[in-house]
Amino acid sequence: MGSTVRSGTGRVGDLPASPLTSLRAPLIDTRGRVARKLRVSLTDRCNFACLFCMPSKGKVHWLPSEDLLHFEEVERLVRVLVSLGVRRVRLTGGEPLLRPGVDQLVRQLTRIPGLEEVDMTTNGWSLAEMAAPLRRAGLHGVTVSLHSLRADRFRAIAGVDALSRVLEGIDAACREGLTPVKINSVAIRGYNEDEVIDLVEFARERDVSLRFIEFMPLDGRGTWDPAKVVSGAEILSRIRDRYPLLLRGRGDGDTARRWGFADGRGEVGLITPITEPFCDDCDRVRLTSDGMFLTCLFDRTLNDLRGPMRSGATDEELAERIRTVYGRKPPGVQYLGDLRKTWVKPRAMHAIGG
Ligand code: 5AD
Ligand code: SF4
Repeated sequence: MGSTVRSGTGRVGDLPASPLTSLRAPLIDTRGRVARKLRVSLTDRCNFACLFCMPSKGKVHWLPSEDLLHFEEVERLVRVLVSLGVRRVRLTGGEPLLRPGVDQLVRQLTRIPGLEEVDMTTNGWSLAEMAAPLRRAGLHGVTVSLHSLRADRFRAIAGVDALSRVLEGIDAACREGLTPVKINSVAIRGYNEDEVIDLVEFARERDVSLRFIEFMPLDGRGTWDPAKVVSGAEILSRIRDRYPLLLRGRGDGDTARRWGFADGRGEVGLITPITEPFCDDCDRVRLTSDGMFLTCLFDRTLNDLRGPMRSGATDEELAERIRTVYGRKPPGVQYLGDLRKTWVKPRAMHAIGG
C-alpha cells in the first residue's frame, strides 16, 4: 500500500516501499492529498492575547482541564496517525509550553518508530529556560511568533509586555541548536506593516528563517477585515526595495513560498492563505487539545477522538474513524468566499492550534 505513495510529498506517486512504510494504508482524500504532517494543540490556553487570535478579555472560555488529552492519550493518537502515514508532528497551542512536562512528551513522541520529526510553535515566553530541555528531549525545530520589535507595539498586539523575554527565548533556541529556528510574523495593516524591514534585518542578523503570514479570518474577536490583510505580494515588494531576493519556491505540501537573500544570508517565506492559497497539495491534519480531529483549518466539524478513546475504542477503530473523517477533508480556504455567508467558524485560532 505504502509503496504507491511518496513519503513527504502530499501527492500520490510511484516509489519503492521504504522502511517507514505505514502499517495501514495512508490517508488519501478525494483530491489525492496525502496526510503527512500533524499539528497537535496541547492546550487552548495562552498567556498572551494576540488581537488576531484570542477573543477579547472576559470573553475567553477555556476548555475545562479534564477535557484536555493526557500526554499518554496524545502519544496514542500520534502513534495511530503515524501508522496512517503521518511523518512529522508540530506541537502548538494556545501556548504549548504552558503544559508542564512538555519535554517529556517530546521525548515520548520522538521514540515513535516512523515519526521523523517533532517541532514546536511557541510564543517564546518560556523558551529561554525551556530551549535546553526541549533540545535534550529531541525536539527538532522551534517557530517563535514575533510580530513587532517595538516593546509598545508588541504589547498592543500580544496584550503582554514580553518583547525582551521573547527575544531572549529566540537567542536561547539558536544557542541550544534547535534546528530550524523560525520566526512567524502576522502583518496587520495599521499595526506593524511598517516593520517588515526591521523584522527582516533582525532575522538575517541571527540567520534564522522569517515567515510572514497573511491575516486569516480565524480571530476570536471577529475583527478580521480584508482591508487589514497585508498581502504577501506587498510584503515581498517592501523587502525587494531593499534586498535582492532569489526565489527558492514552495515545496510540495509546504505553506511558505521561500525566498533567499542574494547575499546568501537568511531566508524569508511568505504564507499567503488569503491571496494565493496553497490547499491543493495540503498534507496537514490537526488534533485539538481536547482530542478533536480536524482535517483543515476551515473544517466546520469537530470530530471527536477523545470520547471513543475514553470509551475503550481500539487503535483499529480509531484509525477507521480517522480514515472516514479524512475522506471528507474540505477543499480549503479558497472556498471561503463561497462559504462566507453560511460559514460558522468552529473555533478561534488559539483553540485550533494554527
Ligand atoms: N491569521 C494568521 N495567523 C495567525 N496566527 C494566529 N492567529 C492568526 C490569524 N488569525 C499565527 C500565530 C502563530 C501561527 C501558528 O499562526 O501567530 O505564529
Ligand atoms: Fe497566544 Fe499564539 Fe494566539 Fe498569540 S497567536 S494569543 S501567542 S496562541
